[in-house]
Amino acid sequence: MTSRGLFITFEGTEGSGKSTQFRLLIERARAEGHTVVETAEPGGTSIGRQIRKILLDPANSELGPTAELLLYFAARAQNVDELVNPALACGEMVISDRWTDSSWAYQGTGRRLGTDLVEQLDTIACRGLVPDLTIYLDIDLETGLRRARSRNVETQLNESRLDDETLDFHATVRKAYFELAQRYPGRFRMVDASRTVEEIATDIWRLVEERK
Ligand code: TYD
Repeated sequence: MTSRGLFITFEGTEGSGKSTQFRLLIERARAEGHTVVETAEPGGTSIGRQIRKILLDPANSELGPTAELLLYFAARAQNVDELVNPALACGEMVISDRWTDSSWAYQGTGRRLGTDLVEQLDTIACRGLVPDLTIYLDIDLETGLRRARSRNVETQLNESRLDDETLDFHATVRKAYFELAQRYPGRFRMVDASRTVEEIATDIWRLVEERK
């Protein structure tokens, strides 16, 4: 029997360099001979990408917090069934750009929907699937938002609905991540994202090697 693969997730506030580190880790793990399945939240699957469009389009200003929360979990449930669980069952490494911790921080805390509600929905959508390692890239808010907003102008992706939130909102989200680090010190690892790309990548690889 193949043993279950390793499930790694990335978390971070806006402009933390998460996408760069996500890519570097995938490349490194593949270079070391791992079969890696990459996914993202919201997104990852075709259904997930359709849901992502609704969630991140700034034109959808009427989208209510509860509908927003349920859409994130709808995308996640699809990801679990279609991609993550099958890959883990084959012993593969799954690396996801965001997971339930984002809903905990952004919707549960940032939107004040309550973290209990997020945990209940996680039970329904993920059915006990929890990341083995979560890498949280921490950056101060001003630096992060400056980076995120200039990227939105450059890429013209029309995905700024959450980046456009107030500084207070993002401060609350960052505090929620600190709380997760305290709650789950084994799984949830905070990495200082104000350093060079290489320094951060070295730290992340060390954390992954500890789990292999
Ligand atoms: P992402 O694609 O990771 O973009 P970024 O690199 O800008 O962080 O995430 C898109 C947005 O979706 C981001 O602002 C965080 C938000 N989000 C939530 O609010 N809740 C969730 O459960 C997830 C997965 C993401």
